[in-house]
Amino acid sequence: MKIGIIGFGTVGTGIYERITSTQRALQQMVSDRIELVSILVKDQSKQRQSEGAKLVTSSWDLFREAATYDVVFEVTNVVEPARTYTESLLAEGVSVVTANKKLVALHGKELEAVALSSGAYYGYDAAVCGAIPIVNVLQSALATTAINGISGILNGTTNFILTEMDSGKTYQQALDEAQRLGYAETDPTSDVEGYDALYKLTLLARLCFGQWVDISAFERQGIGGIEPWHVRVAKENQFALKLVGTSFLQQDGSITGSVKPAFVEETHLLAGVNGVANGVLLQGKDIQQLFFAGPGAGQEATANSAVEDFILHEKGKRLRRTVLSQPASNMPQLQKQLWF
Ligand code: HSE
Repeated sequence: MKIGIIGFGTVGTGIYERITSTQRALQQMVSDRIELVSILVKDQSKQRQSEGAKLVTSSWDLFREAATYDVVFEVTNVVEPARTYTESLLAEGVSVVTANKKLVALHGKELEAVALSSGAYYGYDAAVCGAIPIVNVLQSALATTAINGISGILNGTTNFILTEMDSGKTYQQALDEAQRLGYAETDPTSDVEGYDALYKLTLLARLCFGQWVDISAFERQGIGGIEPWHVRVAKENQFALKLVGTSFLQQDGSITGSVKPAFVEETHLLAGVNGVANGVLLQGKDIQQLFFAGPGAGQEATANSAVEDFILHEKGKRLRRTVLSQPASNMPQLQKQLWF
């Protein structure tokens, strides 16, 4: 089984380490020898550990052999050239597993169509909520379950910042701390302005409701305008201030969605999600409410999801969701505890 990786930053390095450190167990799982062949990097002169795998800087070097690969992990955070690479690989029948939520949110529909026609697998569990295997759960254990509502804390960095503000820090102090700890990027726009959470919300909506949504149809507001007194007033009134993404299948079959700061009643499940964590609440007639929570970001969490995604696919445990969700007339109580 031949494997390639595109991108050798935090997540790419995590996948390399996860594969090499668990190679024997993975080989047993897939009953095959696993060979990490090449890793496409931007800069070959950087010092890094890549024993056994070739570091290549040209996509030509990767693609020359790519048709013989079983999977390529695409773990950049750019749309191009990642879209072109992914499309070419999928068209060749090579499976691609990605953590690139922006690419999937903007071009997932066409990339899935290419995968469907060539028989390749396009996996994006690692793009949604770090360690929480929500995509795999929706495609396997909940593959025939009707879901009509999603509420979630979908970004670890902003949740960390809001948690720190709850302990008395200003927005800037909390952001500086998030950057010092490596959670927030030097340019934190995608996290703090809610784009990252919006990408994940559209992927969840696609899985839960069976349709790709146009990302521009969802509202988005970040946490840049949150001041300490907002957090204080929330707390004094038994609320937690959170960046919450919600999406619902409406009675007329349309899908609505938004990512916005919300006052969350402190008894709500999402109010207990603190630090660099994510929480996702799914609602449906048969399941009532299912709640998933855990590390939403980070090298090990994301790399673990990517490798599990591939292994699950190889073991053939995945199903396509087969039931389109139906609108529900009554909103469960937990939804009423969110105040936007
Ligand atoms: N930066 C994201 C977060 C992780 O803080 O949740 C990658 O989507």
